[in-house]
Amino acid sequence: MTRRIIIDTDTAQDDCIALLVGLLDPDSTLEAITMVAGNVGFARQVHNAFMTLSAADRLGDVPVHLGCERPLTREWISAENVHGDGAGGMHMDLAGLAPESEHGVDALVRLVSENPGEIDVVAIGPLTNIAMAIVKDSTFAENVRSLTIMGGSNNGRGNITAAAEFNFFVDPEAAVTVFGSGMKITVVPWAPLTLNDAVFGADKLAQIAKIGTPLARFFTKVCAATLDFDESVGIFGTTHPDSLSAAVLLHPELITSVSDYNVQVEASSDLTRGYSAMSWGVHDLEPNAQVVESVDSEGFFDLICKLLSAPTSPYREIAGLL
Ligand code: BDR
Ligand code: CA
Repeated sequence: MTRRIIIDTDTAQDDCIALLVGLLDPDSTLEAITMVAGNVGFARQVHNAFMTLSAADRLGDVPVHLGCERPLTREWISAENVHGDGAGGMHMDLAGLAPESEHGVDALVRLVSENPGEIDVVAIGPLTNIAMAIVKDSTFAENVRSLTIMGGSNNGRGNITAAAEFNFFVDPEAAVTVFGSGMKITVVPWAPLTLNDAVFGADKLAQIAKIGTPLARFFTKVCAATLDFDESVGIFGTTHPDSLSAAVLLHPELITSVSDYNVQVEASSDLTRGYSAMSWGVHDLEPNAQVVESVDSEGFFDLICKLLSAPTSPYREIAGLL
């Protein structure tokens, strides 16, 4: 079944692959890309989104809207130590390309209010834009068909601190707003799900390299840049929580275990800022989200390989894409 989706992204590394899923999967119509402050500099994220559109030969087909350039109440924190420029050093000339003049939050509000119950949102960065949309339009939460969030950890380790995953850490107040909104939410957490089921080790990366298409080379270049960092923290491969989020929305059959949870995010402590308390149904708390617990990891990998096999050539030249 085809889904009409918006991807809200801090475009670097796996965000690029999530955009490819939204652009290339036949079950997806990508209505808009909205940008939020997160992984790397805002302008660089916008560049990476346009470059990904070009890699998929879809430049000009999908609007890119600039959203919030910092979290609701806090200073922006980046993950440039993990992602570098988020594009593996590739570069594309943006001359003649411009994002939409409409703000990302306004685009979210407009598209959802014009199409009540029709739009699925995939949020793969800090939740600032989504929280702003909820605050701006009191019907937004009820009119979104579903929200798939990459964030938090399900009683597992964090990645930016021992307690917290990056997206929730950057804007915990936004996460609090979103989990309190009543929206239909599915969470794709960092641990244990991503670490168990969405890390591509050397064998898988070699299989992708063998595909040989420009899209596969794009994947290799964008993702390989994080390998040294991953290894330094004991992860032996590239991590794919963002593309997994898009994939489970479009292909729920990939999910092998999912349960109702009550999810609360810590916004007042310094020590545990952004920690996600995911209560699995035994603490007398109302569920406010479904949390994905495991997926068919081979099925997910096969989907990515299938999408990367499409024989597209970039719309515009990408320097460094060998
Ligand atoms: C999340 O943080 C970002 O660095 C990734 O893009 C992903 O969305 C993982 O914690
Ligand atoms: Ca992201």
